[in-house]
Amino acid sequence: MRPKKYSLTISKKIKSFKKKIIVDSDKSISIRSLLIGSISQGISTIHNILESEDIHSTIFCLKKLGIIIKKTNGGTYKVFGKGLGSLRLNSFGRLNLGNSGTLARLLTGILTTTPNIKVLLSGDKSLNKRNMKKLIILMNKFGAEFEPKNKYNFPLKLISSDYPVGIKYESGASAQLKSAVILAGLNSYGQTIISEKKFSRDHTEIMLANNKRSIKIKSQKEKIILVNGKNFLDNFKIKVPGDPSSAAFFTALTLLNKNSELRINNVGLNPTRIGFYNLLKKNGAKINFSNLRKVNNEKVGDIIVKSSNLKPIKASSNFYMNTTDEYPILFVISSLIDGVSNYHGINDLMNKESDRIKEMQKILKQVGIRSVYKNDTLKIFGKSSLSIEGKKISVPNLGDHRICMSATILALITGIKTIIKNFETVNTSSPNFLKKINSLGGKFEKK
Ligand code: S3P
Repeated sequence: MRPKKYSLTISKKIKSFKKKIIVDSDKSISIRSLLIGSISQGISTIHNILESEDIHSTIFCLKKLGIIIKKTNGGTYKVFGKGLGSLRLNSFGRLNLGNSGTLARLLTGILTTTPNIKVLLSGDKSLNKRNMKKLIILMNKFGAEFEPKNKYNFPLKLISSDYPVGIKYESGASAQLKSAVILAGLNSYGQTIISEKKFSRDHTEIMLANNKRSIKIKSQKEKIILVNGKNFLDNFKIKVPGDPSSAAFFTALTLLNKNSELRINNVGLNPTRIGFYNLLKKNGAKINFSNLRKVNNEKVGDIIVKSSNLKPIKASSNFYMNTTDEYPILFVISSLIDGVSNYHGINDLMNKESDRIKEMQKILKQVGIRSVYKNDTLKIFGKSSLSIEGKKISVPNLGDHRICMSATILALITGIKTIIKNFETVNTSSPNFLKKINSLGGKFEKK
């Protein structure tokens, strides 16, 4: 059942706080654990999975494809995997991918090399707008076809490949595309070879790493992932850490608020996910990681953050890979620091849940912050003291959870009256976001 639609109104600044919280579990790892569990042999167990809309969409699709998934009384999920190439649809069917680009690309990877699949893939308004051309070209190489031809957004009919053979792929900025190729390669004949010069998030590789027959990784200057197709995958047990992308909003709130301090326990700190934190630390942020440990080969720790005087941010394109989802909240931070911030190499943000450059610029304009996007560089002319007189922010229905949460932080720091439509979209990644805001003393109204 989809969550009830509502708007969020904020009209008061948040007061100082000193607290400890945990955030919602990692979305990327949760989706991968369900998908990979379904094509492994036997029962995989997932503790602390994210119970959000994107995960419900994943479960819904896998159940429709014949996989049994059960939730135990303690909240643990069990996925009854049937092995590679085992997913089945009764005759021609339709899969609703909801809002999730990750589910869309990774499941397409699996289905591309699953025999006898004919399926109509579609999502919500936001997902159906997103460009899937790169995915389609890659899956065509494995022998899958998409109809109508020359259409690059969902709804699309996928006809899987009967005799998929491994491919060679030079991976770019997208971890979703890299993962789709790895997952397609697992059920292809021969070897799939992926090379990566800059490293995008590697949760798929980490989750598969124990399957030495199926995957080998050579990491030197360039990373090479060798996928040897048609080998069984072992079932696994996993405990999902907190999502560093969800923690980013609370980190920003603490940094920008006066006399505040926050400890966020048990957050995933995989090096490919912490560009946001590194960038801010370089610019004066009081952020420390403590209690560092490894859980299921993923780095995990606690984040301790204190109010800080930040310098304007200069982020080259090198930061893109590890900062992907944090740009909207970084733009909010930059708009509230004196001086000009620069973000270069961010054009992929136009194909996220919304065009995140254009939509964030519209929000900043409403609060009187100038920004210019030219030559793939966004310049934000920030001001630490903003007059709030006569100002109002309104955010339309974009189907973009991260824009909704970024606008919330902007409102709580400035006190500018803010109305955010269709705030239920935040449930795709962070169903507990408002509860946590409330626990820090943030006030809002739901209508
Ligand atoms: C994700 C990869 C990123 C990110 C998304 C989750 C993943 O997308 O924006 O929220 O789980 O692999 P791209 O691969 O399109 O950069």
